[in-house]
Amino acid sequence: MGKKIILGIETSCDETAAAIVDSGIKIISNVVASQASLHATFGGIVPEVASRQHILAISTVINTAMTESGMKINDLDGIAVTYGPGLAGSLLVGLNAAKGLAFGSSVPLLPVNHLEGHVYATWLNESFNSEETEFPLLCLIVSGGHTDLALMTGHGQFKLINKTRDDAAGEAFDKAARVLGLGYPGGPEIQNAAEKAEGTEKPFPRPKVKNSNDFSFSGLKTSLIQRAVDKNIYPRNNETCVESGLINEIAFAFQEAVVDTLVDRTLKVASELSVKGIIVSGGVAANSCLRTRIEQKSPLPVVMPKPALCTDNGAMIASAGYFKFKEMPATKWDLDIAPGLRIGESLV
Ligand code: KG4
Ligand code: ZN
Repeated sequence: MGKKIILGIETSCDETAAAIVDSGIKIISNVVASQASLHATFGGIVPEVASRQHILAISTVINTAMTESGMKINDLDGIAVTYGPGLAGSLLVGLNAAKGLAFGSSVPLLPVNHLEGHVYATWLNESFNSEETEFPLLCLIVSGGHTDLALMTGHGQFKLINKTRDDAAGEAFDKAARVLGLGYPGGPEIQNAAEKAEGTEKPFPRPKVKNSNDFSFSGLKTSLIQRAVDKNIYPRNNETCVESGLINEIAFAFQEAVVDTLVDRTLKVASELSVKGIIVSGGVAANSCLRTRIEQKSPLPVVMPKPALCTDNGAMIASAGYFKFKEMPATKWDLDIAPGLRIGESLV
């Protein structure tokens, strides 16, 4: 594979993002416009608000990424874009912007699976030597919508091994934060509260699915709600006065239960599949407790993107596009969005 300059565009959820990446590993520019504060008022993502905001932001975000890189459209070798999974109205904005640019400039369009993008954020680590990468690898992808264990046998080659039966880990963090009266997105809020915990609350159960390595977080969510009701934290009304120490301790116990479950299940599957290493990626991989715990417990090498590149960005999409398409393909103009796309699945 020669040196290639790729523009990556990402709009699958609530981040409007664009980046220029050289040869799948070197970030030249990376622009992320987050809508989090807009959705925080509602305590979660409102799809209509998200797609409208993408429309307002997309041109500026792409222009800024181009300007900061010092490149012209004709310097690009490919335009990588997320076509799924994600929110339909949000995906449409990025895909159509990318098609428009590709059409106007005759640069090939590279359709990217968002989940594979999360994995490729690891290739953007300066210390990660992509020449020395040994496959197979086990990838834990933990985001707001997914908790997947996928076997990666080579570049762009993924097979889904286990997934969540109900809520995703990020979703569990977001819901827990809402119950505890913390902000949105919930993951960083739970992490901050847990770091301030002084005492210890009774541990939460570690959720298991019978005879399977799949994940399940809805039971844990129910235990948390029950605990919050018992302690008069939830539902909250104007007279509820909650001691923040208690919230911090519950957040700590909840984070421990999620992290232990993710780490134990990943290490079990990694050993069953005899992989050479583990990749942890997706928004929840920014969690410092998860990062430390898996590094401490894993007998295998563990690689993770930098925390800032764990959440949605365009650079990971550009990197995935580079590694997936050894030859730049002819653009498929009839390419549509795929909101329910899975890891390893391809509609192109
Ligand atoms: O990958 P991502 O940016 O978007 C999706 O593809 O869903 O992941 C967002 C999720 C949210 O649920 C957010 O609460 C969670 O990642 N998250 C975290 C942390 N930072 C973000 N969860 C736990 N700890 C964090 N530090
Ligand atoms: Zn994501």
